Formats: sequence, structure tokens, C-alpha cells
Amino acid sequence: MALPEMITNLLQLSKDNILLLLLAVLIAIHLITDLVRHWSARTLPGPFPWPIVGNAAQIGSYPHIYFTRMAQHYGDVFQIKLGNRTVVVLNGDAIRQALVQKGVDFAGRPDFASFRFISGGRSIAFGNYSEWWKVHRRVAHATVRKFTTGNPDTKNTIENHVVSEVKELISLFMRETSAHGYFQPHQYLVMSMANIFSALCFGKRYSYDDVEFQQVVGRNDKFTKTVGAGSIVDVMPWLQFFPNPIKTLFDQFKELNSEFYEFILAKVVENRRTMEPSIVRDMTDALIMTLDRGMTGTPGVTLDEKYVPPTVADIFGASQDTTSTALQWIVLLLVRYPDIQKKLQEEVEKVVGRNRLPSFQDQQHLPYVMAFIYEMMRFSSFVPVTIPHSTTTDTSIDGYPIPKGTVVFINQWSLNHDPKKWDQPEVFNPQRFLDEEGELNKDITGNVLIFSMGKRRCIGEELSKMQLFLFTTLLTHQCHFTVDKQPSLDCMYGLTLKPNPFQISVTLRA
Ligand code: HEM
Repeated sequence: MALPEMITNLLQLSKDNILLLLLAVLIAIHLITDLVRHWSARTLPGPFPWPIVGNAAQIGSYPHIYFTRMAQHYGDVFQIKLGNRTVVVLNGDAIRQALVQKGVDFAGRPDFASFRFISGGRSIAFGNYSEWWKVHRRVAHATVRKFTTGNPDTKNTIENHVVSEVKELISLFMRETSAHGYFQPHQYLVMSMANIFSALCFGKRYSYDDVEFQQVVGRNDKFTKTVGAGSIVDVMPWLQFFPNPIKTLFDQFKELNSEFYEFILAKVVENRRTMEPSIVRDMTDALIMTLDRGMTGTPGVTLDEKYVPPTVADIFGASQDTTSTALQWIVLLLVRYPDIQKKLQEEVEKVVGRNRLPSFQDQQHLPYVMAFIYEMMRFSSFVPVTIPHSTTTDTSIDGYPIPKGTVVFINQWSLNHDPKKWDQPEVFNPQRFLDEEGELNKDITGNVLIFSMGKRRCIGEELSKMQLFLFTTLLTHQCHFTVDKQPSLDCMYGLTLKPNPFQISVTLRA
């Protein structure tokens, strides 16, 4: 065949089959790209998951300890399976990488069954990342800030609430000591913190014998057990559809959330009924004033008065359990380490004297008190794993691809007990936060992780630190705490780690 004839035939052929040929080339490119992506993507390491339950049975009673052990084996980023959900667990330095360097990617919340029943389904803490959520968080944060450092008037309000509540607490401690010698302080500490937040949120404190308030406060224990990372209902939601002990727990969880929300709704109604224009008595008043006007974000996003109750519920719910757990650890550590209690008393005594009570103004002169609080947060890591996160987009960490919608657990405990960061992390030693001049070393305090970081960082951090400082200084200034037998450091896992019950005796300092 002559050359011109061959070319003509070839051209003829491509003309007839051009579409087929193009299609084949496209499919080939797609297949090759997929294969290259598959070969180059690294699959996350992790323990072998069993059918149906995955790794749920291996986690045990202390998930944060299991995660830390797995991280030693597989590295700071690994995956487990809970039910049929893949969960990526972040430990150590991987936490900052994800929550700060890729903040938005890791700022979501999973679509867990339990989350839908919290704060009337409009929770900031348990809601997913969205334009609505951004405005909602901004409103809540601004309100909390108004009652913290942002405003000298409201700062005094907190101080007054804490001082009067600590006085009440001490008189109850004295009553119990003279009646029983030794007693469990747990319930009093919880009520005391709850009362401060009730005063901040609704302008009202309750008697410790008030049954309704005891019920509202008592619901916290069950709540934090159910929403702690790794809770069974959330990873095996099918368990809620037929009778079994988990379903019973889940039904109770729904009920306690709706009862708590009813309590909040009634409080908001009461505030509306009694408030006067332009007088802000408490956080609920502040939220009513802001949200009744409407709070606008990106086009089409406006939060209105419907958001008042869920915001109050989130602030009141998130604040009391965390801070009262911190207070339990403070008292436990004071009696467990009497030498440290003595050092605290000596420092407070030296700076404050006996003619007045400690106040916020004293904080900068009390570095050992602050070191004690940071060491309590590090050592106990009483929020060991944050509220579960999820990825908002396809992303990666350490070169491992992580698809959108993956559940992510943040193991704060692992950072606070990392032997590369802390000398003898298992030892309780406030001194580690002080420099050679005895001043608080801010570089070292910055390494403690208990309020999380990035887009979901706790909005109550400053307020909590102020309260814990005041409680510690007031209690050590006024009281001496003793035990008849060494309390254990064992605790119950949930969103917060609660120390096991212990008994104390209290005497007033001269
Ligand atoms: C010592 C006390 C406290 C500790 C240790 C603590 C710790 C935390 C942690 C670990 C989170 C989850 C962050 C994440 O998922 O990455 C969180 C979230 C939150 N906390 Fe706190 N918290 C404390 C007190 C408070 C207080 C007093 C308030 C309110 C005034 C508060 C309000 C919130 C809210 C609204 C969220 C949800 C934030 C979000 O999802 O964007 N917390 N807190």
C-alpha cells in the first residue's frame, strides 16, 4: 500500500472511532491516577479491629491510657474501629498539627446519636462546624468574656459570688467535721460551683438542700459518662432500637437532657419576666438583649431569640461539671500532699496576711498557687479526651489521608504525660512550673493541654482559671484539710475524670 493511501486509511479510522478512543484514554488516565494515589497514600496504622465491635472491647475503663499505649506502639496518629466507625486518634504533637495548623479541617463534630438531644438540638459544643455555628460560638464567647476579663464591674461580680459561696462551703465543712469527724466533700464542692454558675447565669443561688437544684446538678455525672469519647451508644447506634441495658442508659440520657433543658427554659422565661431595659443582671439577660436584636453572620445567617435557651444551657452545662471536677482534684491533692498544702498556706499567708481575704489582685504575687493549679490540671488531666471532633473536608496528617466526616479523638492526657516534655510526668510536682527566681514560667504552663486548642478551644478558660485561683487561695487561707487514710488517685472515666470518693476533715486556721 502506498504511503498516501495508508495515511488516508488511518485518518479515516481515527475519524470513525475518535470518540471511543478518547473514552478509552480517559478511563486509562483515571485508573492510573487512582492506582498512583492508592500506592502513594499511606494507610493509618492501628490495632486489629474485630468484626461488629471493632476495638471497643480493648479500650477498657481508661480509654486515654489505652490510646497513649497504642501511640507508643503505632505513633502519635493511629486509627481504631468502634463498631463500624473508623476513629482517628491524635496524640502528642500531632494534636497541634491538626487543631491549629489545619484548624478548620478538624473543627467538625460527628453526627453522634447522643449529640442530637443536647441543648434542644442547638448546642455549640456538640454542633457541627458551619456558618451558623460560627456566629453562635461568637455570641456565647462574647457573653462569657463580658463576665470575665472584659469588664471590671462584672469581674467584681464573680469575685463576690465566689467569696460568698466559699464562706457557705466552709461553714458546711465545719458542720460536717463537728458532726462526723471525717466526711465526703464531693456533693458540697459540686453544689458550690454550680451555685456560682447559677448566680452568673441566672442571678440566683440555691440552698444546698434544694431538691430541684440537687437533681439538676446530679444529672451531670450521667451526662458526662454518656458523651465521653468512646461511649457505646454513639458508636453502635443500632443498640438503641431493641431492649438491652445500653438502650435503657440511652433512654435515661434523653430524659435527663430534656429535664435539664426544661429547667433552663423556665429560667429564661423568668429572666424575661423580671428584666428591665438596659440593666444586665447576669449572662441570661446579656444573651436575651443580644439575640432578641438578632445576631448576623454571613448573608442569610441570623441568630434570633430561639438561640437564648440553648446558649444558656451550653454555658451552664459545660461550666459546672468541669470546674467542680477541678475543685475535687484540688481538695484531693491538698490532703494527699500535706507538704504542698503547707507551702500553699505559707505563700498565701505571706502575701495576704490575716486581716483580709485573698482577691484577684493577689494573683501575680502568688506563683506557687498558680503552679499548683497548672500541675493539678496537667497531672489529673481531668478532661483526658476532648469532645469528639470530626473532619470537615478530605484532609491529611503526617502524610496520612483522612476522608471528610472521619471521627477524631484528641487525647489531651498523652501530651500532659509525655516523658519527652515532662520530667517524671507521673509525679505531682508544682515546682516544675517555677523558674529559678520562683516566678511562674509561662513557656512551661503553655504546654499544659486541658482546654483544647484551635477552633474548638474552650470558651470558659479564663473564667475557670479565675475561679480555681480564688477557690484555692480562699480555702488554703481559711482552712486546714486532713485525712485519716491516704486517698487513692483512682478515678471514673467520662468526659471528665472524677476522683473516687474520699473523706476529709477540716479545721479553721487561726
Ligand atoms: C476547668 C474548667 C474547664 C475545662 C477543663 C474545659 C475544657 C473544655 C474542653 C476540653 C472542651 C472541648 C474542646 C474540644 O472539643 O476540642 C471544652 C469546650 C467548651 N467549653 Fe469548656 N472547660 C472548662 C470550663 C468551661 C466553662 C466555665 C465554660 C463556660 C463558661 C465552658 C464552656 C465551653 C463550651 C461552650 C465549649 C464548646 C466549645 C466548642 O465546641 O466550640 N467551659 N471545654
